[in-house]
Amino acid sequence: MTGAPLLVESRADRVMATLNRPEKRNAIDQEMIDALHALCSELETEPRTLIITGDDEVFAAGADIAQLRDRRAPDARRAINATAFIRIAELPMPVIAAISGYALGGGAELAYAADLRIGSPTLKIGNPETGLGIIAAAGATWRLPEIIGHARASDLLLTGRILDADDALAWGLISSIHPADELLDAAHAMADRIAANDPLATRHTKRALRAPRHEHPDIERELQAELFESDEKHRRMTEFLERRARRAGSPPRAASPSPTEEDR
Ligand code: COA
Repeated sequence: MTGAPLLVESRADRVMATLNRPEKRNAIDQEMIDALHALCSELETEPRTLIITGDDEVFAAGADIAQLRDRRAPDARRAINATAFIRIAELPMPVIAAISGYALGGGAELAYAADLRIGSPTLKIGNPETGLGIIAAAGATWRLPEIIGHARASDLLLTGRILDADDALAWGLISSIHPADELLDAAHAMADRIAANDPLATRHTKRALRAPRHEHPDIERELQAELFESDEKHRRMTEFLERRARRAGSPPRAASPSPTEEDR
């Protein structure tokens, strides 16, 4: 698929999507947006964790300015990038953005649409849109305050300044920093942890996390009510209790200071 704007690798429990316009620093053009919509169709039909990434130097250098320059008011109202990013954010399973290098403008907004963001030390993230005579209209003005708070979102969006990896971590815009050559492994490790959990419980957790304030606490009650009736919940809890019971019946062993992976 060389030449495709988005390289997609599907596995049983996750999909890897790599932004692939290196010659244009992964600038997000209509073709890439179309590919993101196609990816969303796949993941809405068959929900799996999504890892979205770029290359070592660039996650995405924003919306394609060559296309953007010619867009007019009706194009703005169609919210071309915003619509795709909303669809990504609403995918049933978690979305992980593994970000190395530049994530600017629409590229940053794509990252803001993810549930989990991790970066490499070369990360440079921000929204220089006002310098180009436009606003960051693909989610930054409402997602960024939710992620890092209104004061810091205003600092970023009103000045157009770019954060490095350390500041992005300190501001809670990413949750961890990894050397560039370990970034994807770190993303996969997150996907592994997610894959070990009950997919429906994960989906419901994402729904509750994303629900507006006024839907709480009713939404948790309903989602939990559904899970309390699920065979998988019963199976997982029985397995935990039986493992404990087996352990109690086996010869004593050295006390473990903290829960093991098996105890999760
Ligand atoms: N849209 C369209 N094309 C872009 C682009 C964008 N957002 N970002 C980079 N490109 C293109 C450049 O025009 C150039 O194309 P060319 O080789 O045909 O001239 C190519 O990608 C390489 O860009 P260049 O600026 O030479 O790369 P660099 O490594 O020196 O710098 C960036 C990388 C990301 C710092 C720089 O490209 C940049 O500032 N891009 C725009 C960022 C921006 O304002 N984004 C917000 C958009 S809303």
